[in-house]
Amino acid sequence: MSARLVVLVSGAGTNLQAMLDGCADPAYGAQIVAVGADREGIEALARAERAGIPTFTHRVKDFPDRADWDQALTQSCAAARPDLIVLAGFMKLVGDQFLGAFGGRVINTHPALLPAFPGMHAVRDALDHGVKLTGCTLFLVDAGLDSGPTIAQAAVPVLDEDDEATLHERVKVAERSLLVETVGRMVRDGWAVAGRKVRIGP
Ligand code: GAR
Repeated sequence: MSARLVVLVSGAGTNLQAMLDGCADPAYGAQIVAVGADREGIEALARAERAGIPTFTHRVKDFPDRADWDQALTQSCAAARPDLIVLAGFMKLVGDQFLGAFGGRVINTHPALLPAFPGMHAVRDALDHGVKLTGCTLFLVDAGLDSGPTIAQAAVPVLDEDDEATLHERVKVAERSLLVETVGRMVRDGWAVAGRKVRIGP
């Protein structure tokens, strides 16, 4: 039986698209059962709709406070009965209720080699710092900012002529492959966490 994935998005959704394409192969071992967003009118939601996947949107500004937003997000995800939740360019921190419901089964992809350059502007921060190598990190979400245990990483060179857009595009090419490959291995083979170390495999 294939694993049920919920994917949360905020933007272009190219990582979501890579996951949709990966899931099209029955041997992949997973299906996307819902896509959630924190904003309307984004290409990621259009991609989900074109693929016939149910979507939901909860905007923080429509709720009295952050905890109420987190509760709505938690309920919509729970209704889809996910085995794994993938934050794929989701630009919000999930809260206590969300982690209470799904902790250990929430993964995020970040466009830098954590613990270097956490936060919202990872690509710009890496470029400004002058590093020659950056990349992407898939990690298990905990209560901190981009601080959970590392699942997988891929390195990408920084070129002298790079600006934020060109570097981010190179990182995203690596990120999409890493995400699809690693989620597939996780759902097919399982994973175990010991302290900060994640091991994929039976
Ligand atoms: C990805 O590079 C992802 O790592 C980043 O947003 C991009 C989403 O691209 N996420 C973060 O920066 C989270 N802090 P996409 O919408 O095309 O998949």
